[in-house]
Amino acid sequence: QDTSRPPLVYVKGVPLVKYFAEGLGSLESFQAQPDDLLISTYPKAGTTWISHILDMIYQGGDLEKCNRAPIFIRVPFLEFCAPGVPSGMETLQDTPAPRLIKTHLPLALLPQTLLDQKVKVVYVARNAKDVAVSYYHFYRMAKVHPEPGTWDSFLEKFMAGEVSHGSWYQHVREWWELSRTHPVLYLFYEDMKENPKREILKVLEFLGRSLPEETVDHIVQHTSFKEMKKNPMSNYGTIPINLMDPNISPFMRKGITGDWKTTFTVTQNEHFNADYAEKMAGCDLTFRS
Ligand code: PPS
Repeated sequence: QDTSRPPLVYVKGVPLVKYFAEGLGSLESFQAQPDDLLISTYPKAGTTWISHILDMIYQGGDLEKCNRAPIFIRVPFLEFCAPGVPSGMETLQDTPAPRLIKTHLPLALLPQTLLDQKVKVVYVARNAKDVAVSYYHFYRMAKVHPEPGTWDSFLEKFMAGEVSHGSWYQHVREWWELSRTHPVLYLFYEDMKENPKREILKVLEFLGRSLPEETVDHIVQHTSFKEMKKNPMSNYGTIPINLMDPNISPFMRKGITGDWKTTFTVTQNEHFNADYAEKMAGCDLTFRS
């Protein structure tokens, strides 16, 4: 089937991978359940990491159980749709409650049922510069995206919100605003890197769960970048190569904070900072990088 880099499709003004826009269509029949847990992120913010952490929590720290299936089956990706792989909706139909569900959707495209059912949300945000770099490499390897072009032209598209799932700036801001009225645990990738155990304990508290300390330590260990990178159930190694080509760039690429410093030129950084200050004006969110 043809997966040759179709252009993005705009839905309610939001650019999306063509297949994901098609996947959105099938969400009309989606019904949220009150015990669902939604993992919401802008792409490349640490979605797979928090997904594996949450599945390990749900499985009581049992790695064998977590290795039952790849991450995109254990945690269905709501709007996902691509040739040759079960869609998010299809996967959800086979997922027993309580379900973990992943989305990158901005609020304008989020099924209302998730808000009506007061579904708890774990949101992970990552600093914009590292997201832009990670997204650029992901565009290169995940061929459902258009060609990224040069790094410089991709960065311009990122700043303009002309990448799949739209504007990073709007996404982090609107989910932050939502956390004032909806049960959202708003986490930061940089905090998870600094002290994963502390952040996992925050998740447990938010879920109203507890685990023995040695189980939490076990989860920290098995959700490290090093462990997840070598585990085919968390490294996307089972995705067909025509959709994601790890020879171009591995999905589990570097897993660090501050990689932007090796990629941005001084000029790009100054331009980005000026634009960032305008787009984030009046917002009380602060990011470390
Ligand atoms: S996606 O495609 O949007 O779901 O991607 P996502 O999982 O959000 O982001 C992928 C980036 O997260 C890094 N990653 C991790 N970092 C630290 N620790 C762990 N355990 C971990 N797992 C995934 C992954 O390497 C991607 O970042 P980059 O900077 O490209 O390495």
